[in-house]
Amino acid sequence: MKGLILSGGKGTRLYPITYTSAKQLVPIANKPVLFRVIEAIVDAGIRDIGIVVGDTAEEVMEAVGDGSRWDCRITYIRQEAPLGLAHAVKISQDFLGDERFVMFLGDNVIQGGISSLISQFATSDYNCQIVLKRVEHPEQYGVAELKDGRIVRLVEKPRHPKSNLALVGIYMFDHHIFEAVNAITPSWRGELEITDAIQYLVDKGYKVYPHIHEGWWIDTGAPGDLLEANSLVLDEITHTIEGYVDRDSEINGKVTIQKGAEIINSRIRGPAIIGEYSRIVNSYIGPFTSIYHHVLIEDSEIEHSIVLEYSKIIDIPQRIEDSLIGRNVEIRRSPLKPKAYKMTLGDNSRVGIL
Ligand code: DAU
Repeated sequence: MKGLILSGGKGTRLYPITYTSAKQLVPIANKPVLFRVIEAIVDAGIRDIGIVVGDTAEEVMEAVGDGSRWDCRITYIRQEAPLGLAHAVKISQDFLGDERFVMFLGDNVIQGGISSLISQFATSDYNCQIVLKRVEHPEQYGVAELKDGRIVRLVEKPRHPKSNLALVGIYMFDHHIFEAVNAITPSWRGELEITDAIQYLVDKGYKVYPHIHEGWWIDTGAPGDLLEANSLVLDEITHTIEGYVDRDSEINGKVTIQKGAEIINSRIRGPAIIGEYSRIVNSYIGPFTSIYHHVLIEDSEIEHSIVLEYSKIIDIPQRIEDSLIGRNVEIRRSPLKPKAYKMTLGDNSRVGIL
């Protein structure tokens, strides 16, 4: 089987994580979502992966490279405009050939990976398998209507959903999908919808089966809570200490300390991750916190938060909670008179003062 990852679409400014315009590169628990997708596919035994890229092609290609890091081969497929998920399949036909493949949206993460799904599909006679998840707001997604366990109807972002079963961004196909993507026409939003292509397969009597996913699912492309996504993924990390922890520090629960990190006279309560070459000095890092690479936290307390590269938090008297702190940010006490809050904040920043 082959893998096809969709990492095209328009570059969006992601607040507050503005240093990347590719939403697929936003780090969750210190790893870009796209890397998590590649790992899930490689873990399922697939080594030949195509990535569809658009406006943010350069950023994505620079971050991912040729795939040797994951021991897989990556082929980039340029999409001139985000004309839809089915359009992305269409332009990938030369890469995919006649092989069965899994298509994975580059901004989706599911609990437990896709190994069992892939081995089931690879040996089945299904023409297509889709993954569904019960959600609270199905109208934000593609929605499936089932009858006796089979798919009857699929509708993209319906105003009045007929079920609460959303289409997760993981689809498995055989070559019949090319017949479907060539037969459909653009939707009201001007896109060739994969949902319509799958409906075509159902209408033509091809074997399309659903798998209902019971674990969590994150669509980081949907407006949602990055902290919540971060917490779900952190809950699954392994306890690994690759950096240095001095004798005066205490590490409780599941904590990953990446290489080159230093923990000095501090307490870390997991689940939490401390990135490469970050220094935690005389501080407390509480549960559900991701500290990315090259960060300094000194004489401060932080929990349920994300801090990105090269930021510094120094000598803050109150605990910082529920915070998203971008790259190269400095938060420190300013002892200079006049006593005042002094801030340089980017667009759309939010600050809560005690
Ligand atoms: O996340 C699940 C949902 O993904 C499904 O429930 C929907 O049925 C499906 O249509 C899709 O909806 P979205 O509106 O969330 O799709 P979005 O435009 O965000 O694109 C998903 C990913 O695919 C994203 O990483 C960008 C990439 N993409 C998107 C388009 C439209 C491409 O590479 N090329 C494209 O033309």
